Amino acid sequence: MQDFYEHAPALKQELQSVQAIIEKTVDSAHAFIRTLLRSHVQSGGKMLRPALVLLCSRLGEESDRDKAVRVASVLEMIHLASLAHDDIIDSAKTRRGVPTLFAQAGAKQAVLAGDYLLARALALVSAEESGDMMNAQIVSNALARLCESELEQDAGQGDFFISKTTYFRRIGGKTASLFALSCYAGASVGKLPELERMVCHRIGYTMGMAFQIQDDILDYVGNKEKLGKQTGKDLKEGIPTLPLLLALEAEQEMDEQDRKLTALLKSRNKPLSKVSVTKAVALVKTLGGVQKADSIAQSYKYRALKDIQSLKNHEIATQLTQLFEKLAVRSG
Ligand code: FPP
Ligand code: MG
Repeated sequence: MQDFYEHAPALKQELQSVQAIIEKTVDSAHAFIRTLLRSHVQSGGKMLRPALVLLCSRLGEESDRDKAVRVASVLEMIHLASLAHDDIIDSAKTRRGVPTLFAQAGAKQAVLAGDYLLARALALVSAEESGDMMNAQIVSNALARLCESELEQDAGQGDFFISKTTYFRRIGGKTASLFALSCYAGASVGKLPELERMVCHRIGYTMGMAFQIQDDILDYVGNKEKLGKQTGKDLKEGIPTLPLLLALEAEQEMDEQDRKLTALLKSRNKPLSKVSVTKAVALVKTLGGVQKADSIAQSYKYRALKDIQSLKNHEIATQLTQLFEKLAVRSG
C-alpha cells in the first residue's frame, strides 16, 4: 500500500486509519483468531476498494470523514474475507508472495477465519445508521453476486469453451460488483444525488472489469518476481479467461487441422500437464489473445475515464484517474 498512494498523502493517511480499524477488529478477537488473522490482514494489498470509497465520498460538498473511513473498512474486510475463501478454493499456497491462511492453517481454519472477518464487516454495516449508504440489501446483493460467480466458475472448472458473455458475467460478479459497491457507498457517504451515485457505481463497475481483465492478462504475461504470480495458473486450474477465449475465437477462422490450441484443450486429460500449459500459454500469445484482451480492457478503461471526467469535482476526478493509471502499469 505504502508506495501506491505516494501521490495522494490525504488518501494515504485515511487508508492507514482503515488499516488501523481492521487491525483493531482482529486484535479484539479471541487470541487464537488474532494470531491466525494478523498476517492475513497485514499482507499489504493495494487497498483499492477502500480507496474508491474514500475518493468517491469526497465528491459531495461535505462528508463525514469518520463515516467514510468506517465504510471503507467494511469494503476491505469483505474483500479480505473473500480472499481467504478464494485461496482455499484455489488451493493457493501464496498470495502476493506471502503464505496464505490456507497454507498456514488448512482449509477448516481458513474458512472460519474468513467467516469471522465477514461477520465483523457486517457488524460495521449494521452500525451505520444511515439507511441508504451501506444498506444491507445493497451489500447482500454484491456478496451474493460474488458467491454466485465463484460457484459458477468452480462448477465450470475444466471447461475452456465458454462464451465471452459467460466470462464477462463471471468477472462482473467476482470483481466489478465490489468495485461498484465501493464507489456507490462512497458517493452515498458524500450525500450525492442518486443519479450521481449511479454514475459512481458505473465507474466502479467498468474500472473493476478493466482491472480483472488486466489481471487475467497477467496470468499469460505476468512477472512472478514483481507480482508473486506465476503464468499459466488459470489454465492449470481449468479456468478460461479472456485472452484464451479470444485466441480460441481466432482459431475458429483457421482450417480445422491448424487449430492447435483447440485440439490441445480438447484432447488432454484435466488438469493440464505443465507442458500443455506452457504450450497453451505460447499459443494464446501467438494467436493475439493477449493483445485483443488488452484492447477490450482499454475500452472498459475508456468508458470509466469518460464517466470520471464528467464528475463535477475535478480534483477527485484527477485522483481517480491517477489511481486508474497506476493500476494500468502494475505489470511493468
Ligand atoms: C480473487 O480473484 C477472488 C475474488 C475477487 C472473489 C472471491 C469470492 C469468493 C470466494 C466468494 C466468497 C465471498 C465472501 C465475501 C466470503 P481471482 O481468483 O481471479 O484471483 P487470484 O488469482 O488472486 O486468485
Ligand atoms: Mg482465485
